[in-house]
Amino acid sequence: MGNIVKEIRMVDLKGQYLSLQEEIDSAIAEVIESTQFINGPIVKSLGKELEEYLSCKHVIPCANGTDALMIALMALDLKEGDEVITTPFTFVATAETIVILGLKPVFVDVEQDTFNIDAEKLKDKINEKTKVILPVHLFGQSSNMDVIMEIAQEHSLYVIEDNAQSIGAMLEQKTGKLKRTGTIGNIGTLSFFPSKNLGCYGDGGAITTDDEYLAERMRMICKHGSKVKYYHEIVGVNSRLDAIQAAVLRVKLKHLDTFNAHRLGAANYYDAELSEIAELKTPNRKYGTHVFHQYTIQCKRRDELKNYLKERGIPSMIYYPVPLHLQGAFAYLGNREGDYPISEHLSKQVLSLPMHSEITKEEQSYICSEIKKFYTSN
Ligand SMILES: Cc1ncc(COP(=O)(O)O)c(C=O)c1O
Repeated sequence: MGNIVKEIRMVDLKGQYLSLQEEIDSAIAEVIESTQFINGPIVKSLGKELEEYLSCKHVIPCANGTDALMIALMALDLKEGDEVITTPFTFVATAETIVILGLKPVFVDVEQDTFNIDAEKLKDKINEKTKVILPVHLFGQSSNMDVIMEIAQEHSLYVIEDNAQSIGAMLEQKTGKLKRTGTIGNIGTLSFFPSKNLGCYGDGGAITTDDEYLAERMRMICKHGSKVKYYHEIVGVNSRLDAIQAAVLRVKLKHLDTFNAHRLGAANYYDAELSEIAELKTPNRKYGTHVFHQYTIQCKRRDELKNYLKERGIPSMIYYPVPLHLQGAFAYLGNREGDYPISEHLSKQVLSLPMHSEITKEEQSYICSEIKKFYTSN
């Protein structure tokens, strides 16, 4: 057991690299050989391949998932003080970009079982300043997009899907049509941070849309607001995906469904082993296919369990220990403890277990047996 304990990781980027080493090394070497480090044919090809994978008209690669959110918001021509409704139970980038652009984040609490924004509570927060709903498909599962889209249409609001954690997830819409997350609203955003389900070897991101006008604007914004070099029609930023990162992503995209299938198998294993434990709740799969970016349990005595596992060589992470409305960065909004009780409750109970495309049954068996021991012997 000693060997296994040493090897358990939250994410195994090295193991994944070794399984693709030849393909990745030669893709990177090709970029170096070409010396086309910025934009160029490889970045273009990645965009096309992602359009095909996602069944979406436009994929615009950019520097990272935070930029993707910012560029999406910039493309909508919003006015200072306009409101963007989002979740307080997410990574800070989601709300940070709203604030950077002089807009106001308005939080709506999440559903306890999916960790995603509670669409049924959205309507209460809509007023004449509301312009955008920004749901996050957290941990690998879609938000309740049917209801979100219905409300957005009723109130003429844009929808930007923060799809940083859920590339590959599918949602069956009311119409019966299967759609990838990130292609349901007006714009979707992706992060290719190394530990994401589709991750590169540095920073990377992309913006997705079916809308011609928005696509053109976002392409311009990524390139200092220009279509033609040195002619700047609007104010933009410099947000590009490096060709080396695009080369890595092109290799990994071919394997993404296999990686996601492995994650799903690992989630099924955890479910089967852990669902009988009364003190913890395994994650549900309410909206379409789950790609398990994280396998996150809700559990009693969370911090004690985390330490117990750590002592036995098992890493775990708390995503997220403090909901955004209680973070110093958003204190100016005047939110208080108790305003979003489900997010607050989750921040005290969530624990993400090791989950990646290389995890083995032996590792999972050890992790699960230690969790069971903790709850039976403590
Ligand atoms: C939900 C969510 N949104 C946005 C981001 C930002 O992506 P990046 O780190 O690529 O800027 C992340 C990345 O961690 C994320 O998890």
